[in-house]
Amino acid sequence: MIKKKVAAKKVTKKIKKVVKKKVVKRAKKTSVGFYGASQCSKKRKSRNSIERVPTGIVNLDRIIEGGLEKNSTNLLVGGSGNGKSIFATQFLIEGLRKKEAVLYVSFEEKKTEFYLNMLELGWDLEKAEKDGKFFFLSYTPEKIRTMLEEGGGDIETIVLTKKIKRIAIDSITAFVMLFDRDVEMREKTLALFSLLRSWTCTSLLIYERDPLIDKRESSRILEFEADSLILLYFTRINKERERFLEVYKMRGTDHSTNIFPYRICRGAGVDVSRKPYPGSLHKFQIK
Ligand SMILES: Nc1ncnc2c1ncn2[C@@H]1O[C@H](COP(=O)(O)OP(=O)(O)OP(=O)(O)O)[C@@H](O)[C@H]1O
Ligand SMILES: [Mg+2]
Repeated sequence: MIKKKVAAKKVTKKIKKVVKKKVVKRAKKTSVGFYGASQCSKKRKSRNSIERVPTGIVNLDRIIEGGLEKNSTNLLVGGSGNGKSIFATQFLIEGLRKKEAVLYVSFEEKKTEFYLNMLELGWDLEKAEKDGKFFFLSYTPEKIRTMLEEGGGDIETIVLTKKIKRIAIDSITAFVMLFDRDVEMREKTLALFSLLRSWTCTSLLIYERDPLIDKRESSRILEFEADSLILLYFTRINKERERFLEVYKMRGTDHSTNIFPYRICRGAGVDVSRKPYPGSLHKFQIK
């Protein structure tokens, strides 16, 4: 009797094993993504027809399918000292590496000081300028307004004659502040964006705002119009302030929705971690 029971148990175990194998096999065959889409790929590799412009920030390019969309207008938002100018320079340096002509339009920084700061990070902009590939323009927000209203101007001349492929504007904040009324601000922003797109170069516009504590209407208008929005955070986690990067939106891109820690260091500039931040920045946010 006991022998019979043991034998029956063995048979049931065997049957269960075979059934389990079959179920797993079938599940693998008909495997679907988390939300049911069988086409969802685990790797963020550009598979669509959009041409990409690498930012030069290795782990950022990895999470945005290889880079920014070619000819797109991108917004980089962050508070004071977050590394916005370094990020923008790194994006242009990557262009130089690819033998592209690039333009840095600055509203605030003095050229000599800026070049010295960037040299500290290992980027010789003076040499790049002498080589005829890097262009630096000190500009005023009013001049941008004139350029939009009357056409032409120094920026357009450089972009068209030097065949600029990448342009960084540091920063767009003062330009937006020229307008009191939201309607006018939106109108001028749209005009600027469409002008940038008509030049067929990829642009990176910097906007000064701490994404955790500052919610300005002007920023919202820009953020709506831009093709992509990258946020930089710089917040005190424990004893130290830490830096984080988030791709908030990027049209036509299956980008990561995580937040990634980053550092700024000599020789590398903005260095984004491969691993996302496991915690949350929610508690630091002012609603
Ligand atoms: N050579 C360097 N090595 C390491 N970190 C550096 C170096 N140079 C600058 N940094 C870091 O980068 C920060 C400044 O970066 P950056 O000028 O790009 O910031 P920003 O967001 O443009 O600031 P601002 O709002 O003042 O324009 C410094 O406060 C410092 O923490
Ligand atoms: Mg700056």
